[in-house]
Amino acid sequence: MDKNIILEAKGIVREFEIGGGAVVRALNNVDVEIEKGTLTILRGRSGSGKTTLINILGALDKPTKGSVVFGGSDIVKLSEKKRDDIRRYKMAFVFQSVALISSMSAYENVEFGLRLAKFPPNERESRAKEALEQVGLGKRMHHRPGEMSGGEQQRVAIARAIAHRPEIVFADEPTAELDTATGLHVVKLFKELVSEQNMTIIMTTHDPSMIDIADKVYTLEDGEIVGQ
Ligand SMILES: Nc1ncnc2c1ncn2[C@@H]1O[C@H](COP(=O)(O)OP(=O)(O)OP(=O)(O)O)[C@@H](O)[C@H]1O
Ligand SMILES: [Mg+2]
Repeated sequence: MDKNIILEAKGIVREFEIGGGAVVRALNNVDVEIEKGTLTILRGRSGSGKTTLINILGALDKPTKGSVVFGGSDIVKLSEKKRDDIRRYKMAFVFQSVALISSMSAYENVEFGLRLAKFPPNERESRAKEALEQVGLGKRMHHRPGEMSGGEQQRVAIARAIAHRPEIVFADEPTAELDTATGLHVVKLFKELVSEQNMTIIMTTHDPSMIDIADKVYTLEDGEIVGQ
């Protein structure tokens, strides 16, 4: 494997049984290669397979067929315990709905995530502050989610995701609940994290206005990659 490739999926097929012996093929023979330090966008219409694919790349789901090589091994074949460890310590996830704890400040939300990941107290504080500064919320870290805009809340969720310094970040439709301008800010923030912190980020979107910012774009149609 090329040394710059952090994640490589090959021949991914994902079928769902929908009862009565019928099967839906959500992904058909998909190959994806993710280079370290890049922002990749998976785009496509509703139902094209974006969520199915990003969940398989992020070890949240297993393909029916195919391999996903990350950190030198095919993570499809690893035990649930090992997959869980990889998700927890090496990966991070940002979702469409932000799911912050409303009674906690931005800082407390990020710090709480680190507590769940069992970081020691002094490290929790420095990492939480650093992550909030990285997303441009250094001055607003003691505000609660209800006192922040949608875009700011999504930035808190991103800070929470990156605070443990993951090797790779997965974001499924992180901008879907934001207006176009705010969504664009979030994608630009991803791009900054990639170029300034050498992070690797994969996100899905159906919004064509975002795609110019990405280093690489995969277009999905009916479960197949039709362009990149
Ligand atoms: N658990 C499931 N059981 C049956 N079919 C499923 C399941 N999950 C996804 N599918 C089907 O697989 C296809 C791809 O779904 P997926 O959620 O990956 O699309 P998507 O591109 O993320 O769409 P959206 O933009 O609406 O989020 C769809 O036809 C969907 O109905
Ligand atoms: Mg989806």
